[in-house]
Amino acid sequence: MAGRRARLAEEVGDGVLLVPSATTKSIEGDYPQDSDFRQDNNFLYLTGLEVPDSWLVLIAAGGQVRAEILFIPEREPAEEMWTGPKPSFQEASKLSGIVDVRAISDFEETAVESLKQDTGVKAIYAPLNPHSRHDPHIQTLLFEGQAEVLDLEPAFARLRQVKDDFEIEMLRRAIEITDGAHLAALRTARPGMYEYELEAVIEYNFRRGGAERVGFPSIVGAGPNSVVLHYDKSRRRMEEGDLVVMDIGAEYSYYSADVTRTIPVSGAFSARQREIYDLVLGAHEAALAAVKPGNTLMDVERAARVYLQEHGAGKCGAKSCNDQFPHGVSHWLGMDVHDVGDYSVKLQPGMVLTVEPGIYLADEGIGVRVEDDVLVTETGYELLSNAPRDPDEIEALMAEAATVSRR
Ligand code: GLY
Ligand code: MN
Repeated sequence: MAGRRARLAEEVGDGVLLVPSATTKSIEGDYPQDSDFRQDNNFLYLTGLEVPDSWLVLIAAGGQVRAEILFIPEREPAEEMWTGPKPSFQEASKLSGIVDVRAISDFEETAVESLKQDTGVKAIYAPLNPHSRHDPHIQTLLFEGQAEVLDLEPAFARLRQVKDDFEIEMLRRAIEITDGAHLAALRTARPGMYEYELEAVIEYNFRRGGAERVGFPSIVGAGPNSVVLHYDKSRRRMEEGDLVVMDIGAEYSYYSADVTRTIPVSGAFSARQREIYDLVLGAHEAALAAVKPGNTLMDVERAARVYLQEHGAGKCGAKSCNDQFPHGVSHWLGMDVHDVGDYSVKLQPGMVLTVEPGIYLADEGIGVRVEDDVLVTETGYELLSNAPRDPDEIEALMAEAATVSRR
């Protein structure tokens, strides 16, 4: 974590950096069923701490960390009776590597003092939307024009766009769990099952594999729902002849996978479904071939679209195949499923992106998307996700699973 804080100081040069944690959810006021407590990504990135209602104050001067103070809530036995033990100041210090840990009740005064000091600080960096309940004085100070407020997000985005070894390890684990869930779903799917049953198989496998939560609401859309890009209701009874698009991602240690597979519910693609599937797979392979240092996401996008233009003529109904492919081929992947990062930069080793072409024919109820997670390497790329995507292999595995379940 200390290395990340040092790189952030390098990025911003001079400034008082105020980084808030996420806040506790209220059982009465929020919708806590949406999620358990989840730390703010940037705060976790710099501290490694899952403590709510906290702030990090980092003073950068000349591109170096001159001071860093972590403000966290003091332990309260009455509260811990409900929510369990929180780290002590010593534990927080050990975990984060920040020596100076203080009570959150001192935060406002200390931060305001830091901001007011004439220490050669030229710019004050702060989150654009300070959301903690501990910052009214800081907000006053900032918004009354006494300090220059700059958004810290672009600096975080530049750092987080290139993953370090630990981050790649966490992503590998999230993706491995997600691959396993795809395999389980493929072995279980059959006509008559509800989408939510398949979703349950998937999310059971996430939790069983150690994932804390889903990286995004699972998309399990069969038949007409296969063409709805972010369908998340999972209420259809799947029928013979349906394709089912499963766009899913486990979150492991705050890193999300994002892997899509499309399978025939009955175990065999129709000739028409196979025609569309093969086109999408061809575009996927063409896009992958463009993933290498020096290229941009635009090059990856172009490769997929050129493939569809060259191979899709007359195959996608009244429109061109590219017109039936209404979303981008790639996005960055990391702590957020659509992770932070500039979309125009040249690819470099350590960046992780998705490759996910799709074709959606609403008139025919045929939606196909194939999505993989890809690490940029020195020489090209490494495919991080490996759930079966070859249509013959999918059919063979489904046939095998059907035989086993009949025994
Ligand atoms: N997995 C959903 C998306 O990439 O939009
Ligand atoms: Mn995606």
